[in-house]
Amino acid sequence: MRRSEYEMPRADAIALLARAPAVTVATVDPQGLPHLRVLHPVLVDDALCFHGAVRGERAGMLGWPAVASVDEVVAGAPSYFFDPVRACPATTFYVSVQVRGVIQAVTDPGRKAAALEALMRRFQPEGGYATIRADDPAYVGPIAGVAIQELPLTDVIGKAKLAQNRRPADVVHLLERLWERGAAGDPAAIERIAAANPGAPRPAFLRGPEGVTLHPALAPADLDAAVALVADTYWNEGVDPTVIRRAHLGAGAWVGARDRHGALIASARAVGDGAKHGWIYDVAVAPAHRGRGVGAALVGLLLEHPLLRQTLQVHLQTRDAHGFYRRFGFVELDPGTTRPRMVRRRPTTR
Ligand SMILES: CC(C)(COP(=O)(O)OP(=O)(O)OC[C@H]1O[C@@H](n2cnc3c(N)ncnc32)[C@H](O)[C@@H]1OP(=O)(O)O)[C@@H](O)C(=O)NCCC(=O)NCCS
Repeated sequence: MRRSEYEMPRADAIALLARAPAVTVATVDPQGLPHLRVLHPVLVDDALCFHGAVRGERAGMLGWPAVASVDEVVAGAPSYFFDPVRACPATTFYVSVQVRGVIQAVTDPGRKAAALEALMRRFQPEGGYATIRADDPAYVGPIAGVAIQELPLTDVIGKAKLAQNRRPADVVHLLERLWERGAAGDPAAIERIAAANPGAPRPAFLRGPEGVTLHPALAPADLDAAVALVADTYWNEGVDPTVIRRAHLGAGAWVGARDRHGALIASARAVGDGAKHGWIYDVAVAPAHRGRGVGAALVGLLLEHPLLRQTLQVHLQTRDAHGFYRRFGFVELDPGTTRPRMVRRRPTTR
């Protein structure tokens, strides 16, 4: 790769291949003619595996040199983020992976069964079928009748173009513009670009109290820590942790705070229509970090999240933190009840 700062660690490249819904594969036939196909492979034992008919177009690819490619757009950045007049700075931040090699046939029934089972789990995760095993009489015939091909992951090149070539001040500027724009995917893009540029200072909206960073888009990798923060609260009494996990994954906004070692010390989420109503849930700061401004910084970030920032009414319900929320303009709707609802109203524009 020409620019080494864009090189992606192999583990990240493999993870991108594993989550890609489809892979584009280019091959060249013995006559030198190029062929391009979109395939739906799975990763099995360090190879990209895909299936096809024993006779058919794909069967002919065996032994051909191939390049498989996947990419994800992280954020499109318009020119006016960087220059008020000239169109030149418009750019795209993205991650991509290419795998080069030669397409080979998988012939061992056990490996074919493993590839087919991996395909089923990937594309029919709800189950509803008998596990594919090479020694299951019901599958012996079908396994023999289907072709499995693989592209070994020996030559893998991953590229992450996430502003690593920019000056620290320009990275800060980019993160601020993305937050200001607040398009779908921008909070997650902020996380990825900030993580790719650890040397750049964090903009003010991503800084909490001393030693604490704020995060506008938590990810599935944060689920265990977030559930640990809220599972024992009074409002989650009797709620199964798997339901709490799904609630976090289904939230339109899920923000957090981390200590200087990267551990999640606070989490909050919101759902809403982005216009009239939003609801805040599962706000919690780890006990050891309470009382030093983490909760206030986190709720401030959540209220400024694109999901809530224009919302006319933001609602929540709490048993005892009313004073904490009043500071943000929330008022009690039904004082005197055990868990009063609170609402924060924005003035309508007409
Ligand atoms: C409520 C909670 C999120 C506050 O987080 P925190 O980091 O401790 O709060 P902060 O340090 O940012 O406090 C900001 C201000 O709010 C005040 N405050 C904090 N918790 C409060 C509460 N329960 N009631 C009234 N005021 C509170 C603080 O005293 C502080 O005031 P100050 O600026 O005058 O010093 C945290 O205590 C927590 O996780 N509690 C358990 C879970 C919970 O009750 N969540 C809210 C229910 S939706």
